[in-house]
Amino acid sequence: MHLLLLELRNQLEFTDDIFEDSIKLLSKYNKIIVAEHSKCVAIEAGQLANVFGENCEDARLAGVLHDISAVIPNDKKIEVAESLYIDILSEEKQFPPIIHQKLSKEIARIVFGITNERILNAIGCHTTLKDNPTPLEMIVFIADKLKWDQEGIPPYFINVQEGLKQSLENGVFAFVKYLYHNQSSLKVVHPWLVDAYDYLREFICEQRAESYENVDILIK
Ligand SMILES: [Fe+2]
Ligand SMILES: [Fe+2]
Repeated sequence: MHLLLLELRNQLEFTDDIFEDSIKLLSKYNKIIVAEHSKCVAIEAGQLANVFGENCEDARLAGVLHDISAVIPNDKKIEVAESLYIDILSEEKQFPPIIHQKLSKEIARIVFGITNERILNAIGCHTTLKDNPTPLEMIVFIADKLKWDQEGIPPYFINVQEGLKQSLENGVFAFVKYLYHNQSSLKVVHPWLVDAYDYLREFICEQRAESYENVDILIK
């Protein structure tokens, strides 16, 4: 295992309170903004899980751990990913910070002992989403975007909130569509984001077609 990962284990007396431990670990590495953001994402993810009938505790755990790899410096991220045999895409080599989603997943597994694959997978695609995402994956993804770590209100905020009133997919698609149409602002276009866009666009088109069909049936 990479020395940096071994070091993580020696930073804390780990308890059975993963929520507290993850915040303590981020704080130990002076990642105060990330620690605050992670707490907010965990709360938001828990609330969304409640609304959309998912497991609140799973959502909170994935939320609090989603950016835990902030403890690995950006210039070491690819090296650590290689040591963990993570599949590294060319876009991730080109812009290493984007691999932090996959690194957070492995730190959650190795350092925090998370074994629930649903939680791990939600952490592992929280930045880009992916093809055919689960509700938990969409919840953690959109909670991260609603509780962004920058000043002010995100430009997509209102559209996402409006979308969420219709369905989880509509809310998530409002953000994915925003990003897809603002690709010039991205350092790289991750293929998982394109997959998520294609999947959700088709899903929502089908959903709309079905609701029109239902209206037709009602009229007839
Ligand atoms: Fe992140
Ligand atoms: Fe985040």
